[in-house]
Amino acid sequence: MCGIVGYIGGKPAQQILIDGLKRLEYRGYDSAGIGLHGGTKIKITKQKGRIAGLSDSLPQDNPLETVGIGHTRWATHGEPNTVNSHPHMDYSGKISVVHNGIIENYGALKKFLIEKGCEFKSDTDTEVIANLIGYFYEQEHDCEQDCFEWSVQKALNQVYGTYGLAVMCSDYPDVIVAAKKGSPLLIGVGSGENLIASDASAIVEHTKQVIYLEDDEMAIVEKDDVTIKTIHNKRIERELKEIDFSIEEIELGGYEHYMLKEIFEQPDALSTCLKGRLDLNNYKIILGGIQNLSRHLTTAKRFILTGCGTAWHACLVGEYLIERLARTPVEVEYASELRYRNPIIEEGTVVIAVSQSGETADTLAAIEMCKERGATVLGVVNVVGSTIARTTDAGVYLRVGPEIGVASTKAFTAQVAVLTMMAIELGRRRHLDNSRTEQLIKDLDRIPNIINDVLKYSDMIKDISKECGDRENWLFLGRGYNYPTALEGALKLKEISYIHAEGLPAAEMKHGPIALINDGMPAVFIATRCSNYDKIISNIEEVRARGGKTIIIANEGDEEIERYADYLIRIPNVDDALEPLVAAIPLQLLAYHCAVLRGLDVDKPRNLAKSVTVE
Ligand code: F6R
Repeated sequence: MCGIVGYIGGKPAQQILIDGLKRLEYRGYDSAGIGLHGGTKIKITKQKGRIAGLSDSLPQDNPLETVGIGHTRWATHGEPNTVNSHPHMDYSGKISVVHNGIIENYGALKKFLIEKGCEFKSDTDTEVIANLIGYFYEQEHDCEQDCFEWSVQKALNQVYGTYGLAVMCSDYPDVIVAAKKGSPLLIGVGSGENLIASDASAIVEHTKQVIYLEDDEMAIVEKDDVTIKTIHNKRIERELKEIDFSIEEIELGGYEHYMLKEIFEQPDALSTCLKGRLDLNNYKIILGGIQNLSRHLTTAKRFILTGCGTAWHACLVGEYLIERLARTPVEVEYASELRYRNPIIEEGTVVIAVSQSGETADTLAAIEMCKERGATVLGVVNVVGSTIARTTDAGVYLRVGPEIGVASTKAFTAQVAVLTMMAIELGRRRHLDNSRTEQLIKDLDRIPNIINDVLKYSDMIKDISKECGDRENWLFLGRGYNYPTALEGALKLKEISYIHAEGLPAAEMKHGPIALINDGMPAVFIATRCSNYDKIISNIEEVRARGGKTIIIANEGDEEIERYADYLIRIPNVDDALEPLVAAIPLQLLAYHCAVLRGLDVDKPRNLAKSVTVE
């Protein structure tokens, strides 16, 4: 949520900041701005709207402006307009700040600063930080420490909440100060230049060497040097890490949208996710990242699976899988609820936190709360080195590469694939007989090819979208393993097409939602042979009897289903435990084509942002 980029070096900073912001735009796209240090003064340009608009409004690169900070915003405090966009200046015009996160005590701090004579221009919490730093900057201080970094430290010690920050001071043309608490920030270390970013994609074209800041830490970033300290002024040595993806992986590569690219990447992405993890000789699963906790897993008495949105849907699939294959009790909790509950965590409770970004604030808070209560917490995370990956006791990476489209696609199938592997391995160690384990592992190995076959229906699904995409209300219905898939199908459609959609276990329809069905209302059924086939046929009849239009995902070779379907999408036969991996694909394509036909910005749907780092 929101994106930060900073540059200090020998090149003109303007274009580097704009290019970095474009790569971060999926993080927030209400408004954007940059601040450039010209040696004695800081010049701010900012405006409402997308980065392209900001870029058009800028003059030619100035070779003297080699230091700068930039921001793309997803509004939290204050509406998305030019005044509220970042960077924010303090009242003296010396301090300039870009900020991700939320300052919880900003009301009290603002009151204090107003009493001190400070005037505010915006409604944001960020302007409070700028002014607080500016306030301390004007104070006498008696230590040896440099005044600029001292005033940032003083201010941060007064602040409650979360922040990823980059700060410039007009008196210091050779320094940017960055700081982090609860919102990701990294320093890209180059040769004769250094960068700051909230996400590695903003800087990967300049350097792959990075330092990840931890909470309560700050970096004093100069052209040839980076010093890391705590906000209590204690020096820290931090090793360099290498960014694990290349610039090509974050380019569109000929696709019209990132979402489409990521949908079509799924065969390769899942191959990479499964690679080296399926032992096809001994029929077991090898998950290196959690090997050390093998005993905890084998003896676990209960699992709590947690995440948000799409990741929560993956958790629901995980619940069905672990319960069925490993016969172990599982609860699935929205992380936003779990963090404020009083969960019973006994010996033998293992928490599995699922997250693409590894930065979701609610998931992180739920993990911390469970750890405090003594739970072993595993992560199923995509972004290497992310906060959740570092906070959990151990974990399994998705290995699907960067996901840029705001609507999660390849991360969902990989989350399900990892949970499937965990469930099979747990089952193998507990209850599953050898032949079933063998069959499941062989079938899982075939999934990337099967997805490849399903992707060939993209044009046919586009035709269905042309006929149904103008309807404003849809239902998505499935049973068993495909109930979470139905929820995911509905979420995909609503978030990028702005069509109202509800996902339900098919049998629940009769208990209320059936009242919604009217003439021509699309109802998408996942009606594969394995998932209570006869029961779901009755549910389909109930929809047809009320004039609904049925879009049915059914198995190849199922001829009986034809007479129930207004539109039919075939998927290959797979073990029902693996069906969500396959059935999710046509639903992703359906949402994608509906949104494109409606002329919407698929990769940047309104009001949303990738990676929800605020509560
Ligand atoms: C929907 C979507 C979101 C995320 C959710 C959790 O397409 O992407 O619902 O799944 O915000 O994000 P992560 O997985 O990064 O924790």
